Amino acid sequence: MSGSRIGLESLAARIMPAEAAAALIAPGETVGMSGFTGSGYPKAVPMALASRIEAEHAAGNPFRLRVWTGASTGPELDGALAKADGIEFRLPYNSDPIARDKINRGEMDYFDMHLSQVAPMAWQGFLGPLDTAIIEVSGIRPDGALIPSSSVGNNKTWIDRASKVILEVNRWQNPALEGMHDIYYGTALPPNRVPIPLVRPDQRIGEAYFRCDPSKIVAVVETDSPDRNLPFDAPGEDHRAIAGHLLEFFRHEVARGRLPASLLPLQSGVGNIANAVMSGLVHGPFDNLTAFTEVLQDGMLELMESGKLLTASATAFSLSPEAAAALNADMVRFRERLVLRPQEISNHPELIRRLGCIAMNGMIEADIHGAVNSTHLMGSRIQNGIGGSGDFARNAYVSIFMAPSTAKGGKISTIVPKAPHVDHINQDVQILVTEQGLADLRGLSPRQRAEVIIENCSHPDYRPALKDYLARARRDSYGQQSPTLLDEAFAWHQRFVETGDMRG
Ligand code: COA
Repeated sequence: MSGSRIGLESLAARIMPAEAAAALIAPGETVGMSGFTGSGYPKAVPMALASRIEAEHAAGNPFRLRVWTGASTGPELDGALAKADGIEFRLPYNSDPIARDKINRGEMDYFDMHLSQVAPMAWQGFLGPLDTAIIEVSGIRPDGALIPSSSVGNNKTWIDRASKVILEVNRWQNPALEGMHDIYYGTALPPNRVPIPLVRPDQRIGEAYFRCDPSKIVAVVETDSPDRNLPFDAPGEDHRAIAGHLLEFFRHEVARGRLPASLLPLQSGVGNIANAVMSGLVHGPFDNLTAFTEVLQDGMLELMESGKLLTASATAFSLSPEAAAALNADMVRFRERLVLRPQEISNHPELIRRLGCIAMNGMIEADIHGAVNSTHLMGSRIQNGIGGSGDFARNAYVSIFMAPSTAKGGKISTIVPKAPHVDHINQDVQILVTEQGLADLRGLSPRQRAEVIIENCSHPDYRPALKDYLARARRDSYGQQSPTLLDEAFAWHQRFVETGDMRG
Protein backbone atom coordinates (compact mmCIF):
# COMPACT_ATOMS: atom_id res chain seq x y z
CA MET A 1 0.00 0.00 0.00
CA SER A 2 1.52 3.32 -0.95
CA GLY A 3 0.74 6.73 0.59
CA SER A 4 -2.34 6.46 2.74
CA ARG A 5 -2.70 3.34 4.76
CA ILE A 6 -6.48 3.45 4.37
CA GLY A 7 -7.08 1.36 1.30
CA LEU A 8 -10.87 1.07 1.49
CA GLU A 9 -12.18 4.14 -0.31
CA SER A 10 -15.60 4.10 1.29
CA LEU A 11 -13.97 4.90 4.64
CA ALA A 12 -12.64 8.25 3.41
CA ALA A 13 -15.70 10.06 4.76
CA ARG A 14 -15.12 8.61 8.20
CA ILE A 15 -11.59 9.91 8.62
CA MET A 16 -11.67 12.48 11.40
CA PRO A 17 -9.58 13.98 14.22
CA ALA A 18 -9.29 12.08 17.50
CA GLU A 19 -11.50 14.66 19.29
CA ALA A 20 -14.38 14.03 16.86
CA ALA A 21 -14.01 10.27 17.31
CA ALA A 22 -13.94 10.64 21.10
CA ALA A 23 -17.17 12.62 20.89
CA LEU A 24 -18.90 9.48 19.57
CA ILE A 25 -18.52 7.76 22.95
CA ALA A 26 -21.22 8.30 25.56
CA PRO A 27 -20.79 8.34 29.35
CA GLY A 28 -21.20 4.90 30.91
CA GLU A 29 -20.20 3.00 27.76
CA THR A 30 -18.16 -0.18 27.80
CA VAL A 31 -15.17 0.32 25.53
CA GLY A 32 -12.92 -2.47 24.28
CA MET A 33 -9.46 -1.14 23.49
CA SER A 34 -6.59 -2.75 21.65
CA GLY A 35 -3.26 -2.95 23.39
CA PHE A 36 -1.10 -5.46 25.13
CA THR A 37 1.81 -4.22 27.24
CA GLY A 38 3.06 -1.02 25.61
CA SER A 39 2.23 -2.28 22.12
CA GLY A 40 -0.58 -1.68 19.67
CA TYR A 41 -2.81 0.38 21.96
CA PRO A 42 -4.78 3.36 20.62
CA LYS A 43 -2.89 6.54 21.43
CA ALA A 44 -4.92 9.50 20.18
CA VAL A 45 -8.59 8.74 20.91
CA PRO A 46 -8.08 7.77 24.60
CA MET A 47 -6.15 11.04 25.14
CA ALA A 48 -8.93 13.04 23.48
CA LEU A 49 -11.45 11.09 25.52
CA ALA A 50 -9.54 11.89 28.73
CA SER A 51 -9.61 15.63 27.89
CA ARG A 52 -13.32 15.44 27.21
CA ILE A 53 -13.94 13.56 30.47
CA GLU A 54 -11.98 16.18 32.42
CA ALA A 55 -14.04 18.94 30.84
CA GLU A 56 -17.29 17.11 31.62
CA HIS A 57 -16.22 16.57 35.23
CA ALA A 58 -15.29 20.24 35.54
CA ALA A 59 -18.80 21.08 34.32
CA GLY A 60 -20.25 18.79 36.98
CA ASN A 61 -21.24 16.00 34.60
CA PRO A 62 -20.30 12.46 35.59
CA PHE A 63 -18.43 10.61 32.83
CA ARG A 64 -16.87 7.25 33.50
CA LEU A 65 -16.33 4.23 31.31
CA ARG A 66 -15.92 0.51 31.62
CA VAL A 67 -12.62 -0.29 29.92
CA TRP A 68 -11.60 -3.67 28.54
CA THR A 69 -8.20 -4.22 26.93
CA GLY A 70 -5.85 -7.06 26.02
CA ALA A 71 -3.58 -6.46 28.99
CA SER A 72 -1.67 -3.44 30.25
CA THR A 73 -1.35 -0.54 27.81
CA GLY A 74 0.49 2.77 27.74
CA PRO A 75 0.25 6.07 29.58
CA GLU A 76 -1.88 7.64 26.82
CA LEU A 77 -4.61 5.09 27.55
CA ASP A 78 -4.73 3.77 31.12
CA GLY A 79 -2.69 6.62 32.57
CA ALA A 80 -4.64 9.42 30.88
CA LEU A 81 -8.09 7.93 31.51
CA ALA A 82 -7.29 7.03 35.12
CA LYS A 83 -5.90 10.51 35.76
CA ALA A 84 -9.12 11.99 34.39
CA ASP A 85 -11.03 9.69 36.75
CA GLY A 86 -12.70 8.26 33.66
CA ILE A 87 -12.49 4.54 34.44
CA GLU A 88 -15.16 3.00 36.62
CA PHE A 89 -14.27 -0.62 35.86
CA ARG A 90 -11.22 -2.18 34.23
CA LEU A 91 -10.23 -5.63 32.97
CA PRO A 92 -8.07 -7.73 32.57
CA TYR A 93 -4.46 -6.70 33.49
CA ASN A 94 -3.03 -3.36 34.51
CA SER A 95 0.45 -2.11 35.23
CA ASP A 96 -0.23 1.61 35.01
CA PRO A 97 0.78 3.33 38.27
CA ILE A 98 -2.08 5.87 38.30
CA ALA A 99 -4.70 3.18 37.65
CA ARG A 100 -2.99 0.95 40.25
CA ASP A 101 -3.29 3.68 42.89
CA LYS A 102 -6.95 4.23 42.09
CA ILE A 103 -7.63 0.51 42.35
CA ASN A 104 -5.78 0.30 45.66
CA ARG A 105 -7.70 3.28 47.03
CA GLY A 106 -10.96 1.55 46.11
CA GLU A 107 -11.84 4.16 43.49
CA MET A 108 -11.77 1.83 40.49
CA ASP A 109 -13.13 -1.70 40.19
CA TYR A 110 -10.67 -4.11 38.64
CA PHE A 111 -11.56 -7.59 37.42
CA ASP A 112 -8.21 -9.37 37.30
CA MET A 113 -8.72 -12.48 35.21
CA HIS A 114 -6.84 -15.15 33.26
CA LEU A 115 -5.96 -13.62 29.90
CA SER A 116 -7.07 -16.68 27.93
CA GLN A 117 -10.55 -16.34 29.40
CA VAL A 118 -11.31 -12.76 28.41
CA ALA A 119 -12.55 -13.43 24.87
CA PRO A 120 -14.58 -16.55 25.77
CA MET A 121 -16.18 -14.72 28.69
CA ALA A 122 -17.09 -11.82 26.43
CA TRP A 123 -18.69 -14.24 23.99
CA GLN A 124 -20.46 -16.11 26.75
CA GLY A 125 -22.08 -12.79 27.67
CA PHE A 126 -20.75 -12.83 31.25
CA LEU A 127 -19.18 -9.39 30.91
CA GLY A 128 -22.18 -7.57 29.47
CA PRO A 129 -22.49 -5.82 26.11
CA LEU A 130 -19.61 -4.02 24.41
CA ASP A 131 -20.52 -0.61 23.03
CA THR A 132 -17.40 0.58 21.26
CA ALA A 133 -14.14 -0.98 20.10
CA ILE A 134 -11.16 1.36 19.71
CA ILE A 135 -8.49 -0.55 17.84
CA GLU A 136 -5.08 0.42 16.56
CA VAL A 137 -4.25 -1.17 13.20
CA SER A 138 -1.28 -0.68 10.92
CA GLY A 139 -3.43 -0.35 7.81
CA ILE A 140 -6.73 -1.04 6.08
CA ARG A 141 -6.61 -3.00 2.84
CA PRO A 142 -8.70 -2.10 -0.21
CA ASP A 143 -10.99 -5.05 0.55
CA GLY A 144 -11.57 -3.71 4.08
CA ALA A 145 -9.44 -6.30 5.90
CA LEU A 146 -7.62 -4.74 8.85
CA ILE A 147 -3.86 -5.20 9.17
CA PRO A 148 -3.09 -5.74 12.86
CA SER A 149 -0.37 -3.77 14.58
CA SER A 150 2.24 -4.73 17.18
CA SER A 151 -0.18 -6.62 19.43
CA VAL A 152 -3.26 -8.72 18.77
CA GLY A 153 -4.72 -9.23 22.26
CA ASN A 154 -8.52 -9.32 22.19
CA ASN A 155 -8.93 -7.16 19.08
CA LYS A 156 -10.72 -9.79 17.03
CA THR A 157 -13.29 -10.25 19.77
CA TRP A 158 -13.74 -6.52 20.42
CA ILE A 159 -14.27 -5.87 16.68
CA ASP A 160 -16.78 -8.71 16.43
CA ARG A 161 -18.70 -7.90 19.62
CA ALA A 162 -18.81 -4.09 19.59
CA SER A 163 -21.77 -2.16 18.23
CA LYS A 164 -19.42 0.43 16.73
CA VAL A 165 -15.73 0.44 15.85
CA ILE A 166 -13.22 3.30 15.92
CA LEU A 167 -9.92 2.60 14.18
CA GLU A 168 -6.61 4.30 14.75
CA VAL A 169 -4.40 3.71 11.73
CA ASN A 170 -0.88 4.21 13.01
CA ARG A 171 1.65 5.13 10.37
CA TRP A 172 4.47 4.61 12.87
CA GLN A 173 3.86 0.85 12.80
CA ASN A 174 6.07 -0.96 10.32
CA PRO A 175 4.18 -1.86 7.12
CA ALA A 176 6.19 -5.08 7.04
CA LEU A 177 4.12 -6.28 10.00
CA GLU A 178 1.62 -7.35 7.35
CA GLY A 179 1.70 -11.13 7.18
CA MET A 180 3.11 -11.72 10.66
CA HIS A 181 -0.26 -12.27 12.32
CA ASP A 182 -2.37 -15.40 12.52
CA ILE A 183 -5.98 -14.57 13.40
CA TYR A 184 -7.91 -17.75 14.07
CA TYR A 185 -11.65 -17.57 13.50
CA GLY A 186 -12.44 -21.18 14.43
CA THR A 187 -13.26 -20.77 18.13
CA ALA A 188 -16.81 -21.47 19.27
CA LEU A 189 -18.70 -21.81 22.50
CA PRO A 190 -19.75 -25.14 24.01
CA PRO A 191 -21.43 -27.35 22.93
CA ASN A 192 -19.97 -26.48 19.50
CA ARG A 193 -16.33 -26.11 20.49
CA VAL A 194 -13.87 -28.16 18.41
CA PRO A 195 -10.13 -28.85 18.82
CA ILE A 196 -7.81 -26.02 17.79
CA PRO A 197 -5.67 -27.50 15.00
CA LEU A 198 -2.30 -26.21 16.17
CA VAL A 199 0.44 -28.71 16.90
CA ARG A 200 3.61 -26.61 16.47
CA PRO A 201 4.35 -23.13 17.83
CA ASP A 202 5.14 -21.72 14.37
CA GLN A 203 2.07 -23.12 12.67
CA ARG A 204 -0.42 -20.74 11.05
CA ILE A 205 -4.03 -21.80 11.34
CA GLY A 206 -5.87 -18.56 10.60
CA GLU A 207 -5.74 -15.39 8.53
CA ALA A 208 -3.31 -12.49 8.44
CA TYR A 209 -6.07 -9.88 8.97
CA PHE A 210 -9.05 -8.95 11.12
CA ARG A 211 -12.42 -9.11 9.44
CA CYS A 212 -14.60 -6.11 10.14
CA ASP A 213 -17.97 -5.12 8.74
CA PRO A 214 -17.21 -1.61 7.32
CA SER A 215 -20.71 -0.41 8.25
CA LYS A 216 -19.69 -0.71 11.95
CA ILE A 217 -16.70 1.60 11.50
CA VAL A 218 -17.84 5.02 12.74
CA ALA A 219 -14.47 6.75 12.75
CA VAL A 220 -10.96 6.35 11.38
CA VAL A 221 -8.21 8.38 13.01
CA GLU A 222 -4.76 8.59 11.48
CA THR A 223 -1.85 8.62 13.92
CA ASP A 224 1.91 8.51 13.81
CA SER A 225 2.88 7.61 17.38
CA PRO A 226 5.41 5.17 18.77
CA ASP A 227 4.56 2.30 21.05
CA ARG A 228 5.70 3.00 24.60
CA ASN A 229 7.61 0.12 26.07
CA LEU A 230 10.01 0.64 28.90
CA PRO A 231 13.68 -0.25 28.80
CA PHE A 232 14.70 -3.36 30.72
CA ASP A 233 17.22 -3.15 33.53
CA ALA A 234 20.57 -4.73 32.72
CA PRO A 235 20.50 -8.16 34.39
CA GLY A 236 21.74 -7.84 37.99
CA GLU A 237 23.71 -10.40 39.94
CA ASP A 238 20.52 -11.99 41.34
CA HIS A 239 18.94 -12.20 37.91
CA ARG A 240 22.03 -13.85 36.47
CA ALA A 241 22.13 -16.32 39.37
CA ILE A 242 18.48 -17.26 38.79
CA ALA A 243 19.18 -17.75 35.08
CA GLY A 244 22.21 -19.89 36.00
CA HIS A 245 20.14 -22.18 38.29
CA LEU A 246 17.53 -22.60 35.58
CA LEU A 247 20.09 -23.48 32.93
CA GLU A 248 21.58 -26.05 35.27
CA PHE A 249 18.10 -27.48 35.85
CA PHE A 250 17.47 -27.75 32.10
CA ARG A 251 20.83 -29.51 31.59
CA HIS A 252 19.93 -31.93 34.33
CA GLU A 253 16.47 -32.64 32.88
CA VAL A 254 17.93 -33.25 29.42
CA ALA A 255 20.55 -35.58 30.90
CA ARG A 256 17.82 -37.52 32.70
CA GLY A 257 15.79 -37.78 29.46
CA ARG A 258 12.94 -35.72 30.86
CA LEU A 259 13.37 -32.89 28.35
CA PRO A 260 14.54 -33.11 24.74
CA ALA A 261 17.88 -31.48 23.84
CA SER A 262 16.05 -28.58 22.19
CA LEU A 263 13.89 -28.29 25.34
CA LEU A 264 10.16 -27.69 24.80
CA PRO A 265 8.36 -24.49 23.72
CA LEU A 266 9.40 -21.74 26.10
CA GLN A 267 7.00 -19.36 27.79
CA SER A 268 8.65 -16.46 29.46
CA GLY A 269 6.72 -14.03 31.65
CA VAL A 270 6.93 -10.29 31.96
CA GLY A 271 9.68 -8.34 33.69
CA ASN A 272 13.40 -8.15 34.14
CA ILE A 273 14.05 -11.65 35.49
CA ALA A 274 12.22 -13.36 32.66
CA ASN A 275 14.18 -11.21 30.25
CA ALA A 276 17.48 -12.12 31.95
CA VAL A 277 16.69 -15.84 31.72
CA MET A 278 16.17 -15.53 27.98
CA SER A 279 19.49 -13.72 27.69
CA GLY A 280 21.07 -16.52 29.77
CA LEU A 281 19.90 -19.09 27.24
CA VAL A 282 21.92 -17.27 24.57
CA HIS A 283 25.05 -18.65 26.23
CA GLY A 284 23.51 -22.01 27.14
CA PRO A 285 24.04 -25.34 25.35
CA PHE A 286 20.52 -25.62 23.93
CA ASP A 287 19.82 -25.16 20.23
CA ASN A 288 16.79 -25.26 17.94
CA LEU A 289 14.63 -23.72 20.63
CA THR A 290 11.05 -22.61 20.07
CA ALA A 291 8.75 -20.34 22.07
CA PHE A 292 5.00 -20.42 22.61
CA THR A 293 4.53 -17.45 24.85
CA GLU A 294 2.48 -14.36 25.55
CA VAL A 295 4.88 -11.46 25.04
CA LEU A 296 8.10 -11.22 23.10
CA GLN A 297 10.60 -9.29 25.18
CA ASP A 298 14.13 -8.22 24.26
CA GLY A 299 15.69 -11.45 25.53
CA MET A 300 13.59 -13.52 23.16
CA LEU A 301 14.75 -11.47 20.15
CA GLU A 302 18.33 -11.69 21.36
CA LEU A 303 17.93 -15.46 21.53
CA MET A 304 16.57 -15.46 18.00
CA GLU A 305 19.42 -13.27 16.77
CA SER A 306 21.90 -15.72 18.32
CA GLY A 307 20.46 -18.48 16.16
CA LYS A 308 19.39 -20.52 19.20
CA LEU A 309 15.69 -19.72 18.95
CA LEU A 310 14.14 -20.82 15.68
CA THR A 311 10.59 -19.53 15.96
CA ALA A 312 8.33 -17.78 18.46
CA SER A 313 4.58 -17.38 18.86
CA ALA A 314 3.04 -14.69 21.06
CA THR A 315 0.25 -12.14 21.17
CA ALA A 316 2.37 -8.99 21.50
CA PHE A 317 5.77 -7.44 21.40
CA SER A 318 6.98 -5.99 24.66
CA LEU A 319 10.27 -4.48 23.64
CA SER A 320 12.56 -1.77 24.89
CA PRO A 321 12.82 1.19 22.50
CA GLU A 322 16.21 -0.12 21.29
CA ALA A 323 14.92 -3.62 20.60
CA ALA A 324 11.81 -2.20 18.88
CA ALA A 325 14.10 -0.18 16.59
CA ALA A 326 16.17 -3.28 15.82
CA LEU A 327 13.03 -5.28 15.06
CA ASN A 328 11.67 -2.53 12.83
CA ALA A 329 14.92 -2.35 10.92
CA ASP A 330 14.78 -6.05 10.16
CA MET A 331 11.07 -6.81 10.20
CA VAL A 332 10.95 -8.76 6.95
CA ARG A 333 13.49 -11.26 8.22
CA PHE A 334 11.88 -11.58 11.66
CA ARG A 335 8.41 -11.89 10.15
CA GLU A 336 9.29 -15.33 8.82
CA ARG A 337 9.99 -16.60 12.32
CA LEU A 338 7.48 -14.76 14.50
CA VAL A 339 3.72 -15.21 14.77
CA LEU A 340 1.35 -12.91 16.67
CA ARG A 341 -2.01 -14.44 17.60
CA PRO A 342 -5.13 -13.52 19.57
CA GLN A 343 -4.51 -13.98 23.29
CA GLU A 344 -7.22 -16.62 23.55
CA ILE A 345 -4.93 -18.73 21.29
CA SER A 346 -1.47 -17.65 22.53
CA ASN A 347 -2.58 -18.51 26.07
CA HIS A 348 -4.98 -21.35 25.33
CA PRO A 349 -4.83 -24.14 27.95
CA GLU A 350 -5.45 -26.80 25.27
CA LEU A 351 -2.44 -25.64 23.27
CA ILE A 352 -0.14 -25.08 26.24
CA ARG A 353 -0.86 -28.61 27.46
CA ARG A 354 -0.52 -30.13 23.98
CA LEU A 355 2.77 -28.40 23.17
CA GLY A 356 4.19 -29.07 26.63
CA CYS A 357 5.38 -25.54 27.35
CA ILE A 358 8.07 -24.71 29.87
CA ALA A 359 6.38 -21.91 31.83
CA MET A 360 8.68 -19.38 33.52
CA ASN A 361 7.03 -16.59 35.44
CA GLY A 362 7.97 -14.02 38.04
CA MET A 363 6.35 -13.93 41.46
CA ILE A 364 5.95 -11.64 44.43
CA GLU A 365 6.38 -14.41 46.96
CA ALA A 366 6.02 -18.14 47.52
CA ASP A 367 5.13 -19.86 50.72
CA ILE A 368 6.98 -22.78 52.19
CA HIS A 369 4.38 -25.18 50.79
CA GLY A 370 4.84 -23.84 47.27
CA ALA A 371 1.77 -21.65 46.81
CA VAL A 372 2.62 -18.53 44.79
CA ASN A 373 1.39 -14.97 45.04
CA SER A 374 1.89 -13.11 41.76
CA THR A 375 -0.37 -10.15 42.32
CA HIS A 376 -0.99 -8.78 45.83
CA LEU A 377 1.53 -7.01 48.08
CA MET A 378 0.81 -7.81 51.73
CA GLY A 379 -2.25 -9.75 50.62
CA SER A 380 -4.31 -6.71 49.69
CA ARG A 381 -2.52 -4.26 47.44
CA ILE A 382 -2.56 -5.17 43.74
CA GLN A 383 0.72 -4.84 41.89
CA ASN A 384 -0.26 -5.76 38.31
CA GLY A 385 -2.46 -8.80 37.88
CA ILE A 386 -2.33 -12.52 37.16
CA GLY A 387 -1.89 -11.93 33.41
CA GLY A 388 -1.23 -15.16 31.60
CA SER A 389 0.74 -16.74 34.43
CA GLY A 390 -2.18 -18.96 35.44
CA ASP A 391 -2.95 -19.98 31.87
CA PHE A 392 0.60 -21.22 31.49
CA ALA A 393 1.41 -22.47 34.99
CA ARG A 394 -1.56 -24.78 35.30
CA ASN A 395 -1.15 -26.34 31.87
CA ALA A 396 2.61 -26.39 31.37
CA TYR A 397 4.88 -29.41 31.04
CA VAL A 398 6.89 -27.85 33.80
CA SER A 399 5.82 -24.76 35.71
CA ILE A 400 8.57 -22.54 37.12
CA PHE A 401 8.26 -19.43 39.32
CA MET A 402 11.17 -17.16 40.12
CA ALA A 403 12.10 -14.10 42.14
CA PRO A 404 15.02 -12.82 44.18
CA SER A 405 14.82 -14.26 47.71
CA THR A 406 14.26 -10.81 49.21
CA ALA A 407 12.47 -7.61 48.18
CA LYS A 408 12.58 -3.99 49.32
CA GLY A 409 16.33 -3.93 49.67
CA GLY A 410 16.42 -7.09 51.78
CA LYS A 411 13.75 -5.98 54.28
CA ILE A 412 11.26 -8.60 53.11
CA SER A 413 11.70 -12.30 52.43
CA THR A 414 9.96 -13.56 49.31
CA ILE A 415 9.80 -17.02 50.90
CA VAL A 416 7.14 -16.77 53.60
CA PRO A 417 5.31 -19.09 56.00
CA LYS A 418 1.97 -18.55 54.30
CA ALA A 419 1.12 -16.50 51.21
CA PRO A 420 -1.56 -14.00 52.23
CA HIS A 421 -2.93 -14.14 48.68
CA VAL A 422 -2.61 -17.13 46.37
CA ASP A 423 -2.71 -17.00 42.58
CA HIS A 424 -1.08 -20.37 41.94
CA ILE A 425 -1.90 -23.24 44.23
CA ASN A 426 0.91 -25.61 45.12
CA GLN A 427 -0.27 -28.16 42.55
CA ASP A 428 0.51 -25.60 39.83
CA VAL A 429 3.98 -24.74 41.10
CA GLN A 430 6.61 -27.33 40.28
CA ILE A 431 9.90 -25.45 40.42
CA LEU A 432 10.82 -22.42 42.54
CA VAL A 433 13.99 -20.47 41.84
CA THR A 434 15.68 -17.64 43.68
CA GLU A 435 19.28 -16.48 43.44
CA GLN A 436 19.94 -18.83 46.38
CA GLY A 437 18.98 -21.95 44.45
CA LEU A 438 16.27 -24.07 42.92
CA ALA A 439 13.63 -26.24 44.59
CA ASP A 440 12.22 -29.09 42.53
CA LEU A 441 8.85 -29.72 44.16
CA ARG A 442 7.59 -32.41 41.82
CA GLY A 443 6.43 -35.45 43.72
CA LEU A 444 6.95 -33.90 47.16
CA SER A 445 4.41 -33.64 49.99
CA PRO A 446 3.85 -30.20 51.56
CA ARG A 447 6.03 -31.21 54.54
CA GLN A 448 8.86 -32.19 52.19
CA ARG A 449 8.35 -29.08 50.07
CA ALA A 450 8.75 -26.82 53.11
CA GLU A 451 12.17 -28.27 53.87
CA VAL A 452 13.44 -28.02 50.30
CA ILE A 453 12.10 -24.51 49.72
CA ILE A 454 13.56 -23.10 52.93
CA GLU A 455 16.89 -24.84 52.40
CA ASN A 456 17.33 -24.09 48.68
CA CYS A 457 15.50 -20.82 48.06
CA SER A 458 15.30 -18.67 51.20
CA HIS A 459 17.83 -15.97 51.98
CA PRO A 460 20.30 -16.84 54.78
CA ASP A 461 19.06 -13.80 56.75
CA TYR A 462 15.56 -15.31 56.92
CA ARG A 463 16.37 -19.02 56.89
CA PRO A 464 16.69 -19.44 60.68
CA ALA A 465 13.31 -17.74 61.28
CA LEU A 466 11.63 -19.90 58.66
CA LYS A 467 13.22 -23.06 60.05
CA ASP A 468 12.14 -22.10 63.54
CA TYR A 469 8.59 -21.48 62.33
CA LEU A 470 8.51 -24.82 60.53
CA ALA A 471 9.79 -26.68 63.59
CA ARG A 472 7.07 -25.14 65.76
CA ALA A 473 4.40 -25.72 63.10
CA ARG A 474 5.43 -29.37 63.00
CA ARG A 475 4.85 -29.47 66.72
CA ASP A 476 1.76 -27.29 67.20
CA SER A 477 -0.18 -27.15 63.92
CA TYR A 478 -3.78 -28.39 63.95
CA GLY A 479 -2.94 -30.77 61.09
CA GLN A 480 0.31 -32.14 59.75
CA GLN A 481 -0.41 -32.37 56.02
CA SER A 482 0.53 -28.69 55.56
CA PRO A 483 1.83 -27.56 58.96
CA THR A 484 0.69 -23.98 59.61
CA LEU A 485 0.49 -21.71 62.65
CA LEU A 486 -2.50 -19.57 61.81
CA ASP A 487 -1.84 -16.66 64.15
CA GLU A 488 1.82 -16.35 63.17
CA ALA A 489 1.41 -16.87 59.44
CA PHE A 490 -0.17 -13.52 58.71
CA ALA A 491 1.56 -11.70 61.54
CA TRP A 492 4.70 -12.21 59.45
CA HIS A 493 3.31 -9.78 56.86
CA GLN A 494 1.48 -7.46 59.24
CA ARG A 495 4.84 -6.60 60.78
CA PHE A 496 6.00 -5.00 57.52
CA VAL A 497 2.80 -3.04 57.11
CA GLU A 498 3.03 -1.73 60.68
CA THR A 499 6.72 -0.85 60.59
CA GLY A 500 6.36 0.92 57.25
CA ASP A 501 9.15 -1.23 55.78
CA MET A 502 7.01 -1.65 52.67
CA ARG A 503 7.93 1.87 51.65
CA GLY A 504 11.65 1.10 51.63
N1 COA B 1 6.86 -8.02 49.09
C1 COA B 1 6.66 -6.71 48.91
N2 COA B 1 6.92 -6.07 47.75
C2 COA B 1 7.41 -6.80 46.75
C3 COA B 1 7.65 -8.17 46.88
C4 COA B 1 7.36 -8.78 48.11
N3 COA B 1 7.55 -10.07 48.30
N4 COA B 1 8.14 -8.62 45.71
C5 COA B 1 8.18 -7.59 44.87
N5 COA B 1 7.75 -6.48 45.50
C6 COA B 1 7.64 -5.14 44.95
C7 COA B 1 8.97 -4.61 44.46
O1 COA B 1 9.69 -4.00 45.52
C8 COA B 1 8.54 -3.62 43.42
O2 COA B 1 8.07 -2.45 44.06
P1 COA B 1 8.58 -1.00 43.60
O3 COA B 1 8.05 -0.87 42.19
O4 COA B 1 7.92 -0.09 44.59
O5 COA B 1 10.06 -1.06 43.67
C9 COA B 1 7.32 -4.29 42.79
O6 COA B 1 6.83 -5.21 43.78
C10 COA B 1 7.64 -5.06 41.51
O7 COA B 1 8.70 -5.92 41.78
P2 COA B 1 9.90 -6.19 40.73
O8 COA B 1 10.97 -6.90 41.47
O9 COA B 1 10.24 -4.95 40.01
O10 COA B 1 9.11 -7.15 39.79
P3 COA B 1 9.27 -7.86 38.41
O11 COA B 1 9.44 -6.87 37.32
O12 COA B 1 10.25 -8.98 38.48
O13 COA B 1 7.80 -8.47 38.35
C11 COA B 1 5.80 -9.47 39.20
C12 COA B 1 7.34 -9.37 39.31
C13 COA B 1 5.32 -10.64 40.04
C14 COA B 1 5.17 -8.17 39.69
C15 COA B 1 5.47 -9.68 37.68
O14 COA B 1 6.14 -10.83 37.24
C16 COA B 1 3.99 -9.84 37.44
O15 COA B 1 3.25 -8.87 37.35
N6 COA B 1 3.54 -11.12 37.35
C17 COA B 1 2.15 -11.45 37.15
C18 COA B 1 1.78 -11.53 35.70
C19 COA B 1 2.59 -12.54 34.94
O16 COA B 1 3.23 -13.42 35.49
N7 COA B 1 2.57 -12.42 33.63
C20 COA B 1 3.32 -13.25 32.76
C21 COA B 1 2.46 -14.22 32.09
S1 COA B 1 2.87 -14.44 30.43
